Amino acid sequence: MPRYAYVNGRYLPHDAAGVHIEDRGFQFADGVYEVVTIQGGRLVDEAGHLDRLGRSLGELRLAWPMDRPVLQQVMRQLIRRNRVRDGIIYLQITRGTAARDFRFPEAATPTLVMTTRRMNLDPARQVAAGVDVVTIPDIRWKRRDIKSVALLAQVLGKQQAAEAGAFEAWQIDEEGMVTEGCSSNAWIVTGDGRLVTRDASTMILNGITRQSILRLAAEQGLQFEERAFTVDEARRAREAFLSSATTYVMPVTRIDGRPVADGKPGPLSRKLRESYRSYAVGAGAS
Ligand code: PDD
Repeated sequence: MPRYAYVNGRYLPHDAAGVHIEDRGFQFADGVYEVVTIQGGRLVDEAGHLDRLGRSLGELRLAWPMDRPVLQQVMRQLIRRNRVRDGIIYLQITRGTAARDFRFPEAATPTLVMTTRRMNLDPARQVAAGVDVVTIPDIRWKRRDIKSVALLAQVLGKQQAAEAGAFEAWQIDEEGMVTEGCSSNAWIVTGDGRLVTRDASTMILNGITRQSILRLAAEQGLQFEERAFTVDEARRAREAFLSSATTYVMPVTRIDGRPVADGKPGPLSRKLRESYRSYAVGAGAS
């Protein structure tokens, strides 16, 4: 079955799809993106992801390339054409193609690209054992709240994690506090059972999954705090986990090679994964 990509109004065979060499995404990383999970053919947390896309576009002073409802129709059309039940849809919008000049071009049409990928959203072995993270200095720019395609620091961080046999790298700011993973938010559970994740600011990307987990935690009457925590606090935590559109809630059982608590996924992490999964197939799906 052919796989299609959407590029500026056309559905092209994935292998042949491309944009111009002077696209500003390619030359300056002058663009933004979103990753939305497809579970059972439906989109998870679609509204949250599109709201954040609108915010990212606004921060770059880019307009929506098409009305939001039309964009949603295109997303669905691509998912249908590619017959994706479980996986992701990736959307990227750049400032378009123009002769290389740092300043905004006077008249450029934004580039809009969408691709889909099938994915196992329930990797049983990883969920059962939990994953390893390593810690690395956070060398990114200061506007991490924008979901920009400028991901070089994350590319280097993820590669370092992979070479250490880890799933993710948690980035550490200049004060020794964990900001977030390279493509996920970081969480711990303290000794007295409180859920902790970094507060949303320009220091992190405010994960849509993160926001839904906080909502679910509040509904369940769980105690939580949005604040920074140190690597040391994470190492001494009762539990740790990470969250993103693609991983949902994923238990973290080792940090820099040392086990978190008894080195097994904790009960709260498991419970929140289940809650988020139920939400993803129910109220959070569209
Ligand atoms: N990454 N922090 C960073 C730096 C991220 O790149 C991501 C997502 C998250 C989690 O956000 P959300 O819950 O909205 O997925 C946090 C996506 C999955 C990616 O780049 O592939």
